[in-house]
Amino acid sequence: MATAVLFEPEITYSRPLEAKIALVTGASRGIGRAIAVELAERGATVVINFRNSFAHAEELRDNIQNSGGESHLLQGDISDRQEARRVVHELIDMYGRLDILVNNAGITRDKSIRKMTDEDWLEVIETNLNSMFYCTSAAIPAMIEQKYGRIVNIASFSGQAGNFGQANYAASKGGIIAFTKVLALELAKYNITANVIAPGFTLTDMLATVPEDILEQIKARVPLRRFAKPEEIAKAAAFLICDGDYITGQQININGGLYM
Ligand SMILES: NC(=O)c1ccc[n+]([C@@H]2O[C@H](COP(=O)([O-])OP(=O)(O)OC[C@H]3O[C@@H](n4cnc5c(N)ncnc54)[C@H](OP(=O)(O)O)[C@@H]3O)[C@@H](O)[C@H]2O)c1
Repeated sequence: MATAVLFEPEITYSRPLEAKIALVTGASRGIGRAIAVELAERGATVVINFRNSFAHAEELRDNIQNSGGESHLLQGDISDRQEARRVVHELIDMYGRLDILVNNAGITRDKSIRKMTDEDWLEVIETNLNSMFYCTSAAIPAMIEQKYGRIVNIASFSGQAGNFGQANYAASKGGIIAFTKVLALELAKYNITANVIAPGFTLTDMLATVPEDILEQIKARVPLRRFAKPEEIAKAAAFLICDGDYITGQQININGGLYM
């Protein structure tokens, strides 16, 4: 007599990204680095893109490999359209696929609009926004073929609320949010999701340039009265990638309540 199965055995997916290939742009430091670590811990092979910080990138790759993960470096300035496309195409040539794209690389060149030069404007728009188009448009043919893709774009609360001295940066981040909605609409039929994470002030080198007294003033504006840790942003990226199969075109705000 067959025994009735009362409980299905619980399957735990400790490495849900096993066999998945991920590209994280700007992964040598800060938020990108934390995302690379999170994805590697979940089993993904993580390709670390960076521009200048070779030593940081190498150290991260070695840490991932020493923890039993898979990781490779792909240096390239993704604000340059040819470089950005080369990075993505090299990765696809190497692995034959690309499952996860985290468009994270970003810079600030803060100044009031009255003082902002064309160079300040263009450098930020090219690095933060145009790179996203270059990398994403190069990545999606492979994702469409696979009928699978997870794209996470890192914006900022600044692109939602505005922030004094960040016209270039806020415009780039607002553009990322709008771009992601269109991406989500156009790619949903291929099982490709695209979402935004909008961090508030996060403890990385990007904040290191801000004077201490200004940092204290900023902190006083944050309802949770502290800055985010990069790992807190990375957890949300991993959630969208591992568990967000029915989430697309959305924004997750991780800002301590700074913008609601
Ligand atoms: N920190 C914050 O408070 C905060 C808040 C909201 C949003 N964000 C966003 O989060 C993302 C990561 O910021 P973060 O704070 O982690 O910055 P970060 O610590 O300054 O690190 C920036 C990363 O981007 C890379 N990068 C910059 N320009 C690049 C280029 N042209 N090509 C390739 N890589 C490039 C850097 O590579 P190299 O090391 O080689 O230069 C580095 O790995 C950015 O999009 C930023 O706008 C940050």
